[in-house]
Amino acid sequence: MCGIVAYIGPKEAYPILVKGLKRLEYRGYDSAGIALLNGDLSILKKEGKVSILEQFAADKDKHGTIGIGHTRWATHGVPCDRNAHPHLSNSGNLAIIHNGIIENYGALKTELEGRGYTFTSDTDTEVLLNLIEDIQKAENTSIEEAVRIALNEVVGAYAIVVIDKREPNKLVAARKGSPLVIGVGKDEFYVASDASPIIEYTKHVVYLNDEEFAVLNRNGVLDIKTLGNIQKSPYIQKLEMDLEKIEKGGYEHFMLKEIYEQPQVVLDCMRGRMNAEQGWIKLGGVSEFAGRINNAKRIIITACGTSWHSGLIAEYLIEELARIPVEVEYASEFRYRNPIVNEKDVLLAISQSGETADTLSAIQIAKDRQALIYGICNVIGSSIARASHAGSYTHAGPEIGVASTKAFTAQVTILTLMALQLAQSQGTISQSRLRQVLYEMETIPDKIRGALKTNDVIKEIAAKYKDAKNFLYLGRGLNFPIALEGALKLKEISYIHAEGYPAAEMKHGPIALIDENMPVVFIATNMSAHEKIVSNIQEVKARKGKIIAIVNEGDTIIKALADEVIEIPETDELLSPLVSIVPLQLLSYHIALMRGCNVDQPRNLAKSVTVE
Ligand code: AGP
Ligand code: GLU
Repeated sequence: MCGIVAYIGPKEAYPILVKGLKRLEYRGYDSAGIALLNGDLSILKKEGKVSILEQFAADKDKHGTIGIGHTRWATHGVPCDRNAHPHLSNSGNLAIIHNGIIENYGALKTELEGRGYTFTSDTDTEVLLNLIEDIQKAENTSIEEAVRIALNEVVGAYAIVVIDKREPNKLVAARKGSPLVIGVGKDEFYVASDASPIIEYTKHVVYLNDEEFAVLNRNGVLDIKTLGNIQKSPYIQKLEMDLEKIEKGGYEHFMLKEIYEQPQVVLDCMRGRMNAEQGWIKLGGVSEFAGRINNAKRIIITACGTSWHSGLIAEYLIEELARIPVEVEYASEFRYRNPIVNEKDVLLAISQSGETADTLSAIQIAKDRQALIYGICNVIGSSIARASHAGSYTHAGPEIGVASTKAFTAQVTILTLMALQLAQSQGTISQSRLRQVLYEMETIPDKIRGALKTNDVIKEIAAKYKDAKNFLYLGRGLNFPIALEGALKLKEISYIHAEGYPAAEMKHGPIALIDENMPVVFIATNMSAHEKIVSNIQEVKARKGKIIAIVNEGDTIIKALADEVIEIPETDELLSPLVSIVPLQLLSYHIALMRGCNVDQPRNLAKSVTVE
């Protein structure tokens, strides 16, 4: 959610900040702003895109070698120039950028108003800044000490960077619950929500931990302390990310690039973790905690959105293969319903960003109740990865498109490996069947390539149905979560209402919706339910619904019934989600494009949802 970027060093800050904000655009935002210190603090901020901020700033003074930048995703107060960050304190001495929410801002604001403070925005952020100022005055202390004391009074989540115009040689940054990375250059520091704005300047980074704050000094000294005032020595890590990996690489949109990256992603995800010929799978985290996972009474999977859909696939796979009971829960529900969890449970948390607030809270609850936490994340060093006892990274590379595609296939790949590894250690799969599935997994990148070849057919279908008001997605078994995910993709980026259902459930309600204007996408690749899905197709056809069927190559039966057919390579039914999701991603992409929607940054959505 939103992005922060900051710089202190010998260079001009403005170009670094603007470029950094552009790199963070993928996170989703509604306004952007920059503060530069050059004797005085100058604030440039505008509702809308970073490009609007740039136009606004064109004729303004932008000098300064220390500055902070922000893309806001409003939580307190509507998106508008006034509420955009950075904010200034009442005296004009301090400026702040903030990602997150200050939950007790109401009480703090009343207190500050009682002491004569006034507010120009509706944000919780401005309250925090004036609290810092109030403490600084009352205690007659440094900016960093005032930040530390203030943050001890605050309830909520934040990543902040503060400038004090009387101290032009330092920036103060702190975090709790929202991401923050510090880039370490030669006599210069960068701060950002993730490494993408930093990587072209330095590969050396420090990830600040929750409840830590850092003072970044112009002389190159980096001072880190906990909010309890304990000194920490900075742990500098080397980033493995490449700049070209976070650029579009010739594709029109990040989403399309990421869809096409899937064969490679699946390969990278399997690399070193399995060997078909020798018949083994080894996910480090599963091996390390084999005792606890294999003896688990059950596995509880928690996640949100697309990651929740891969959790549903994992439920089918783990129960089918390893015979361990699995429950899948929306993290936002789990966290508020006093769940029964104990040390015999394993909580599997799935999250692309690793920063989703609901998933993090669900983890905390299960952790407090002694469950083993296993995290499946894409972003290395993310909060969920660090809050987990064990885990596996999906290694899909940065996913910039807000609608998740390659992160999903990577999650399903890991979860499939996990189910197989558990089945092997539970003795619920024969060695020959295991090897058969592993050999088939090795063919998946090619089969995804085969599915990507349907792009032109899908474009034609998209052109025919782009004006539909509703879509229904139906599948059975492992294709039911794929139906949900296909519907979510369409909703997210084309703003067409779409619902996913188990195909047989249709007759219990949604069938009432079917008429000649209703496109129904059948994911009909699982041969074990072929006859049944054919009957469901007949039910829709009888009511004049338009049938778009995803089938295995050579399926003549469904071809004869459907209005449109998308043929994809056949694979083992257990692995079919990895292939059958691809045409659905492409369908939503082309429909959204034809409707003139912003595919990479759909309205109202954020890439990483760090608030409840
Ligand atoms: C995916 O297309 C969505 N943008 C969204 O549902 C997402 O999957 C969800 O917010 C969970 O995110 P996470 O995987 O980063 O935790
Ligand atoms: N809560 C702050 C606001 O509404 C920050 C939101 C954000 O993370 O962008 O301005």
